Amino acid sequence: MASLEEIREEALSRIRSAEGLDALNDIRVEVLGKKGALTALMKNLKDMAPEERPKFGQMVNEVRQTIENALEAAKKAGAAKAQELRLKAEVIDVTLPAKLQKMGHRHPNTLALEELERIFIGMGYEVVEGPEIEYDLYNFEKLNIPANHPAKDEQDTFYINKEIVLRTQTSPVQARIMEQGKLPIRMIAPGRVFRSDEVDATHSPSFHQIEGLVVDEHITFSDLKGTLELFAKELFGADTKVKFRPHHFPFTEPSAEMDVSCFKCGGKGCRFCKGEGWIEILGCGMVHPHVFEMCGIDPDRYTGFAFGVGLERISLLKYEIDDMRLLYENDDRFLKQF
Ligand code: DAH
Repeated sequence: MASLEEIREEALSRIRSAEGLDALNDIRVEVLGKKGALTALMKNLKDMAPEERPKFGQMVNEVRQTIENALEAAKKAGAAKAQELRLKAEVIDVTLPAKLQKMGHRHPNTLALEELERIFIGMGYEVVEGPEIEYDLYNFEKLNIPANHPAKDEQDTFYINKEIVLRTQTSPVQARIMEQGKLPIRMIAPGRVFRSDEVDATHSPSFHQIEGLVVDEHITFSDLKGTLELFAKELFGADTKVKFRPHHFPFTEPSAEMDVSCFKCGGKGCRFCKGEGWIEILGCGMVHPHVFEMCGIDPDRYTGFAFGVGLERISLLKYEIDDMRLLYENDDRFLKQF
């Protein structure tokens, strides 16, 4: 059987090299526990001479106390060490560069639309919206586009059924607003339109237009020209010149297309304007009296002008993007540039 001295030395040496709380606990059980070495030694007491017993008992207790103290000290030291390690592991390096948050980004179409809305709101226009799924009645009939008109061709219209279509233009919003009968009207109506077109650099089955409509007494073609010229100068720069070419739209009479002088070359002709010096920008005209009648407005008392701008066309021009498909691909390396 191990001597008291041996037990103490071995226990202390094990405590010194013990790693972790579990190891210390094992030592406590093995040395001081019920089946431990020290307890076993105490069992010798009964074989000793009575006068030796108190002294031996006292010595055992002293050793027990020494080992308990050592265990306690080791436990405290271990806890302090663990705490120190944890603090080291959890340290925050405030000098590290921050992780960049990925922020959303406004789409070139949105930027162009906001610019356009700013211009027209500045001239007292209201921004309104109409449905993307529209009655044939509004998309065609009330705009003077009768049943056999080529604009209704199945090839460029998505039909839901005979009476309902995905709107092919924002012009139906004109009819809807006029029908409400609140005059005068000064509105723009931006929104998505749909045509059964193949995707290429300048076409998409879904794109956006901004419709404009002014109705009041004494509105003339000069108002149309003045308004749209101001719009062009605001959007493309003060030096921009405009030109109106006669055109045909069923819902306006007379009708025109407006070109702006190329803001790249100033009108001399360059790659950007394909040598023309001019860039086509929108369709416009004086509201057709028959359209007024169909929408419940007296054409003898009221006149008005309307226009329609392709939003993609504006953003492609303004941000010098050469392929419309880029606008729909959602590649943020592209979108981040604007
Ligand atoms: N809706 C026509 C289109 O999609 C554009 C247009 C032309 C709108 C002349 C108008 C307008 O309001 O007066 O081609």
